[in-house]
Amino acid sequence: MDTDLLNTAAPAPIRHAVHLPDDDRMSPEFRAVVRRRGEEAALGLVADLDALDRRYSTTVAAAARHDVRLLCAVKASTHPEVLRRAAEFGLGFDIANEPEFEAARGASTRARLSLTSPALPRREQAPLFAAFARGEIHRWHCDSLAQLEELASACPGSTVGVRVCLDGLDVPEGMPLFTPSRFGIRLDQLPLARDIAARHGCALRWIHAHNGSEENDIASYVFAAEAIVAAARAHEIDLEAVDLGGGLLAEATPEALDEFFGAVRAAVPAETELVFEPGRYWLIDCMTLITQVLDVKETPDRVLLVLDLGLMSHLQWADHIRIPTLGLLVPDDSRPWRLCGRSCFEEDMLDEWEKVPVAADAPVPRRGDVIALGNISGYAIELSCDFNGVRRPTLELLGV
Ligand SMILES: Cc1ncc(COP(=O)(O)O)c(C=O)c1O
Repeated sequence: MDTDLLNTAAPAPIRHAVHLPDDDRMSPEFRAVVRRRGEEAALGLVADLDALDRRYSTTVAAAARHDVRLLCAVKASTHPEVLRRAAEFGLGFDIANEPEFEAARGASTRARLSLTSPALPRREQAPLFAAFARGEIHRWHCDSLAQLEELASACPGSTVGVRVCLDGLDVPEGMPLFTPSRFGIRLDQLPLARDIAARHGCALRWIHAHNGSEENDIASYVFAAEAIVAAARAHEIDLEAVDLGGGLLAEATPEALDEFFGAVRAAVPAETELVFEPGRYWLIDCMTLITQVLDVKETPDRVLLVLDLGLMSHLQWADHIRIPTLGLLVPDDSRPWRLCGRSCFEEDMLDEWEKVPVAADAPVPRRGDVIALGNISGYAIELSCDFNGVRRPTLELLGV
């Protein structure tokens, strides 16, 4: 008899390497947690709640130094713990519809809520108008003159707001501002908005402009602020608040935030409240995806690292992902590594510009290894799906 067939000893554990991004964005404690989970092949998303708290705390403190009000855009993460902690740090919420209203109220019934919506389904209008009338929604920015007419007639006598775009303005060459925009009314329509409000005994006093998510800079925020303040003045609108939306791209350091908030605050009169409502910003460098290498494949012009995920369905709006440095599959090989998902979609791979860092002496990933991708955005969770049977990763929030 072949005794090998009867060998019932436990199989040796499968050994695999764990590849971590080598930037220093993870705290040493969280890095140790990610490494241990990788070694145990405990796959999924993990979020560092201490890092999130640090971002909340640093940013809220900087905003207070410049008399700036901060909201958290619920669309970027509806996770109850993320929202609960935001409210604990004194942040209000930017909401765009009834489910986001519910998520924000679930986190706190005391936090300030500001609604800015492209449009509401009819069934959500009445309950949200009622919440506005009760004072549970504190600000409301209408996206069109027709929406303003509806709000003002449903809530006569209230203070109301509009969202504007900067279409038609002479934007300096190369300034990153999203024009033309499909959102909001033009600044030269403000007199019409003011008069619609006045017909219902309302005062138009809040103006909102989302300055742009992907691309912006301090100068573009200052430009938007100055344009809004000037238009309000020209049209005799007594501006209570300017909300410049989300898109905050500054580093979460006191210096960078002081520079950003200070410059924009200087463009808005002291008696007018200045509001920002970042979304993506809050979870930057807080979330890591631990996943498995399923295959390493070569094509003539690239080397493909096939991972146990669907980039298209799990990592949407998760750009600036932090990727481990990989070694060369073949010495002196100049082909780039590309990170792929396992769905059947040909383009299920990280965008071209999300370059995989390479070093000749870095380890080469093998099938079965574990790889950690840093800086997964909250949007990636909000937008995830199970397309093609690639189940969305589990998420655990950790205090380390
Ligand atoms: C009105 C409004 N506010 C805030 C945000 C949040 O933007 P970000 O996640 O880029 O900070 C968005 C994003 O689309 C938005 O449309």
